[in-house]
Amino acid sequence: PDEITVGELAARMKMTAANIIKKLMGLGVMASISDTIDYDTAFLVASELGCAPEKEVVVTIEERLFEEEEDKNEDLVTRSPIVVVMGHVDHGKTSLLDAIRHASVTSTEAGGITQHIGAYKVKVGDGEITFLDTPGHEAFTAMRARGALMTDIAILVVAADDGIMPQTVEAINHAKAAGVSIIVAINKMDKPEANPDRVMQELTEYELVPEEWGGDVICVPVSAATKQGIDTLLEMVQLTADVKELKANPNRMAKGAVIEAKLDKGRGPVATVLVQNGTLHRGDVVIAGTAVGRVRAMTDENGRRLEEAGPATPVEITGLAEVPAAGDDFNAVENEKLARELVEKRRYQQKQEQFNSYQKVTLENLFSQI
Ligand code: GTP
Ligand code: MG
Repeated sequence: PDEITVGELAARMKMTAANIIKKLMGLGVMASISDTIDYDTAFLVASELGCAPEKEVVVTIEERLFEEEEDKNEDLVTRSPIVVVMGHVDHGKTSLLDAIRHASVTSTEAGGITQHIGAYKVKVGDGEITFLDTPGHEAFTAMRARGALMTDIAILVVAADDGIMPQTVEAINHAKAAGVSIIVAINKMDKPEANPDRVMQELTEYELVPEEWGGDVICVPVSAATKQGIDTLLEMVQLTADVKELKANPNRMAKGAVIEAKLDKGRGPVATVLVQNGTLHRGDVVIAGTAVGRVRAMTDENGRRLEEAGPATPVEITGLAEVPAAGDDFNAVENEKLARELVEKRRYQQKQEQFNSYQKVTLENLFSQI
């Protein structure tokens, strides 16, 4: 609906109607409890009366825009798992993925350090697995947290010659917080100093008890260098995924998350997005954070052009009017006009939040000077 009664607005904002009516008067609008006011006025009143209720009002525009109904059982099909690879810097995450993909990303990385999230869909047997590679460097906590939130399973890579290190612990915490299953890959088994027992011992200190010691955590000794154990690791990922019975509905508008985004000189804003449900098509209108636009071109991780991308597929898209933030949700929508309206609202909210935090800071400064 484009309008709302004063009474309904008051109820949604958990406030008295008198409060709302007073505010409306201040804006030059005379209304009683049963009168309807238009959406923009309601939004204005809500935002002037504080930001918490504002969100509830915004839900109405999102309800109008997004297909939020639950997928029906008969529409659901099995989807491939999304797996994040996490661990301490240099423990071999990218090398392991290179070995799985028969590719060589490590050799092209500056200083051999991963600085962004890589996303790859790999054929394994007759299935597929979508991998997110994350950086291990301590500076990239936010990326690891985001990676964990988008996925079903985490492969925790621990170098057998080094054991559990600070970012290993951090990765364990992210995976636990996101509620994803953890599979441990004990890497660099080819090294003479490799000590997998020590790694397993250390894991127990973080409540990860290996299966061979009576717990429920699968640990697979592997070597990215010799490819030892990699087939077993992939088998374990697929077994874990099978138990989860991961499903998606390919016949709905796409929704997912922005993995990363940048401004490309020639192509404009370019975003790597992970389609989590539905199917994204070239030409779809998409909204991601405060960015909106039509998908102009869509490519997979190898630069191949795609017309559509189904569930659990990472794709790079162009056509957004601005660069979204990594971690933003994205949705394909039918109503472009409404999408632009929502973007305006979100911008307004962002400004409001900035303004509020600015006010707080100046107040604190004020007090600290007294
Ligand atoms: P960040 O992304 O920067 O956190 O590092 P990473 O975990 O992706 O590690 P990367 O794959 O870049 O490997 C780090 C170093 O370890 C490289 O020199 C690899 O060649 C080496 N390495 C990785 N896996 C193995 C392995 O199984 N055996 C041996 N001997 N070396 C390995
Ligand atoms: Mg790496």
